[in-house]
Amino acid sequence: MNQRILKFTSWAILLSMFISHADSYDPLDPFGNVTIKWDVISWTADGYVALVTMFNFQMYRHFMSPGWTMTWGWAKKEVIWSMVGAQTTEQGDCSKFKGNVPHCCKRVPTVVDLLPGVPYNQQIANCCKGGVVASWGQDPGSAVSAFQVSVGLSGTTNKTVKLPTNFTLLGPGPGYTCGPAKVVPSTVYLTPDRRRKTQALMTWNVTCTYSQLLVSRHPSCCVSLSSFYNETITPCPKCSCGCHNKKDCIKPDSNKLKMRGINTPKKDNTPLLQCTHHMCPIRVHWHVKVNYKDYWRVKIAITNFNYRMNFTQWTLVAQHPNLNNVTQVFSFDYKPIVPYQSINDTAMFYGMKFYNDLLMEAGESGNVQTEILLKKDKDVFTFKQGWAFPRKIYFNGDECMLPPPDAYPILPNAAHQNFTPFSRFAAFLVLIVVTVSHFL
Ligand SMILES: *[C@@H]1O[C@H](CO)[C@@H](O)[C@H](O)[C@H]1NC(C)=O
Ligand SMILES: *[C@@H]1O[C@H](CO)[C@@H](O)[C@H](O)[C@H]1NC(C)=O
Ligand SMILES: *[C@@H]1O[C@H](CO)[C@@H](O)[C@H](O)[C@H]1NC(C)=O
Ligand SMILES: *[C@@H]1O[C@H](CO)[C@@H](O)[C@H](O)[C@H]1NC(C)=O
Ligand SMILES: *[C@@H]1O[C@H](CO)[C@@H](O)[C@H](O)[C@H]1NC(C)=O
Ligand SMILES: *[C@@H]1O[C@H](CO)[C@@H](O)[C@H](O)[C@H]1NC(C)=O
Ligand SMILES: *[C@@H]1O[C@H](CO)[C@@H](O)[C@H](O)[C@H]1NC(C)=O
Ligand SMILES: *[C@@H]1O[C@H](CO)[C@@H](O)[C@H](O)[C@H]1NC(C)=O
Repeated sequence: MNQRILKFTSWAILLSMFISHADSYDPLDPFGNVTIKWDVISWTADGYVALVTMFNFQMYRHFMSPGWTMTWGWAKKEVIWSMVGAQTTEQGDCSKFKGNVPHCCKRVPTVVDLLPGVPYNQQIANCCKGGVVASWGQDPGSAVSAFQVSVGLSGTTNKTVKLPTNFTLLGPGPGYTCGPAKVVPSTVYLTPDRRRKTQALMTWNVTCTYSQLLVSRHPSCCVSLSSFYNETITPCPKCSCGCHNKKDCIKPDSNKLKMRGINTPKKDNTPLLQCTHHMCPIRVHWHVKVNYKDYWRVKIAITNFNYRMNFTQWTLVAQHPNLNNVTQVFSFDYKPIVPYQSINDTAMFYGMKFYNDLLMEAGESGNVQTEILLKKDKDVFTFKQGWAFPRKIYFNGDECMLPPPDAYPILPNAAHQNFTPFSRFAAFLVLIVVTVSHFL
């Protein structure tokens, strides 16, 4: 390879790494975002009433209990007179007001969803789910959250109103970065009889994207591998999720587990982990189970090692070249994800409602499993060189750490085949593809 190409390539690789970090770009969900839309539905004597709707356009990342928290900064001295379907966590100092007291006078209000079961007069459509919002891939109908806000001491026309700034979103932890509010064409509503259209007086959108790197330096899950053709189980890499919390972990036979309240979730979701060499709250095990003539079968098991967390509406995403020929999926729901029309190698799995959509806290019931039947494509199918193992695994939208390729179980007759150079070459190819795709 000549010097200039080499230089360009290494520069491009560096650049692509930088871009993907800064951009929070997820190659398996390249358009994933959360859009917050404000529709001004009426102007009032001193401000406006807006319907705020949050759309979770992410294919496989949802907002788990205790749900989302949204903040913004008012551009002027706005107050919130009232809210329906959500509330601010603090009222702030409203001592200037006599008689009618606002719901919130803070410069930066912190808004949370109401809990299910509040009185009907405090509800609007898509509100009051305790901030829990499904992912778009799992259930678009539940991937929306909404509230209504009545704003005072603000502009009262579309020329004088100032857009809120500095949006932040917690889901429930960190990870989201929101852009500025932008005025967009007004939302058009169809009346229930579908015979008349009305429209918002003004609409602005805010787009937020997720980056795992903002959450932690470490992954939050890991992958272990095994196969019928080799009895070696390739474990999760040691300290996959960082061993910083090792001193607080609990052995599965510890007496502490009999203490009352040990499983009570903490408000900030801090985990209480079972001691493992990987120290991950979640392990995904991929087992190549059976080889048939035209098909092969994979078993996937997800294990929860966190004593303080039930994962509701969990999602698993896997990338493997044979996922374009899924024949049958047992006991999980399944959906192909095809972000690029030409490549069909990614699948999303999630629990069946009321059956296994709840991944229970660590312990005997803290696991869910599936088996997948895949049709072989004779031209590419092989058990060699770890081909049967996944390229990527995500749990709840976070990428899990895979073992290094040279630790994969290998075919006995290929035991002496040295495939490290191959995997290096493959990694190099992948980098080139990633780099090139960034320039497209
Ligand atoms: C957000 O996601 C939606 C749905 O995938 C997409 O149409 C829209 O373009 C995205 N917005 C941005 C700013 O990426
Ligand atoms: C928004 O953030 C900028 C930069 O952090 C800060 O200077 C500004 O005061 C903030 N505005 C509001 C209204 O909070
Ligand atoms: C604003 O957000 C809404 C809801 O997600 C979307 O339908 C609309 O296309 C967005 N507008 C623009 C200009 O992005
Ligand atoms: C503001 O309102 C006027 C009419 O009242 C309308 O013509 C104009 O398009 C609106 N501008 C925006 C940004 O919505
Ligand atoms: C998990 O769910 C079960 C059944 O609903 C409940 O008994 C248990 O307390 C929950 N555990 C945690 C950690 O929330
Ligand atoms: C992708 O593969 C799945 C599983 O075989 C199939 O159901 C789906 O139709 C494929 N989608 C496309 C766009 O090829
Ligand atoms: C696998 O799927 C691809 C695309 O979905 C299709 O073109 C191909 O024929 C399938 N192969 C087999 C062996 O069914
Ligand atoms: C099974 O795989 C391991 C790990 O790659 C390898 O060291 C071992 O030799 C393999 N066993 C057989 C019987 O080939």
